Amino acid sequence: MNSAVIAGISHKGGTGRSVTLANLAFHLHRNHFANVCIVDLDLASPTMGAIFKVEELRKGIETPATRGNPKSTHDILLQRPASIDQAFFDLRSKIDKGVSPYINKAKKFSIIPGRAGTGDWKDKHEHLMSRLTTFLRKLRASNYDFILLDVRSGISDVFEALDDEATALIDMFLVHTRWTPQHLSGLQALLESNIFTNLGGAKERVGIVRTAYISPTSATAKRVDGALQDQLHDISWSGGTLRNENNAFIGTIPMAERLQWEEAILPPPSETDTHADTYHAFEELASKLASRLRG
Ligand SMILES: Nc1ncnc2c1ncn2[C@@H]1O[C@H](COP(=O)(O)OP(=O)(O)OP(=O)(O)O)[C@@H](O)[C@H]1O
Ligand SMILES: [Mg+2]
Repeated sequence: MNSAVIAGISHKGGTGRSVTLANLAFHLHRNHFANVCIVDLDLASPTMGAIFKVEELRKGIETPATRGNPKSTHDILLQRPASIDQAFFDLRSKIDKGVSPYINKAKKFSIIPGRAGTGDWKDKHEHLMSRLTTFLRKLRASNYDFILLDVRSGISDVFEALDDEATALIDMFLVHTRWTPQHLSGLQALLESNIFTNLGGAKERVGIVRTAYISPTSATAKRVDGALQDQLHDISWSGGTLRNENNAFIGTIPMAERLQWEEAILPPPSETDTHADTYHAFEELASKLASRLRG
């Protein structure tokens, strides 16, 4: 069976896309006994290695790794190796000590990290994006249940390279957004871009995830002033509108205080932990994805 490929995208940066994808990868691996690989396609500023707290990947791969390991997504795209087997970096023994006890050693949990310090490289490697389709095809044929792609925010180089052929190789687009007026207007623009127009009838392949969500009835929201309160209620309702219109609203990840300061994988919560809601929301969304894509 082909790997199920999930592309995480967002209109803006700082939406919680990378943190959400990393936590979903963790739950798919742990709760669904799946072989999971996460691919850092935020080519200009990769953060996945840092989220998993793997020291050698913290800033991305430092130099072009021509022969050795680990290899970055750049290395794979530029060098076009016949096999991408050597691209998968095993996270199981290297992952953050706080979550390593919860890793399922019998199943694969891997990453293809980004390269450090590349900045804006699009003009330097114009041909690179034409190789994305081949890369996706190889990922689909790899021995993983789920491949999660962290695609750079906005209408970025990678996003633009997702032409019809590449899009056909992606099973699910997870669109990450914060629930603020600014983010929602941007979200509309993203949903109206070519990629989604081209999806045509395949709207079920799009899921909108609201990230770092503050419920208007929560204690945090009650601390804000009246006008802002009203606004919070309004945007909270527009979630309903968006869901009905696009039939694409798939999950809500509550704001976790702990994640505001630290990009991390949340461990199973103890009774005193305040991140239980957020942890269970990641868990629930992972279950939805698993049943949608793997039945
Ligand atoms: N559920 C959450 N609750 C609170 N803070 C969160 C949550 N999810 C993410 N964050 C925080 O929001 C910030 C942005 O998250 P993240 O880096 O995942 O965003 P991103 O969309 O990948 O950004 P970029 O486009 O810059 O890569 C981080 O500090 C992260 O820890
Ligand atoms: Mg990111």
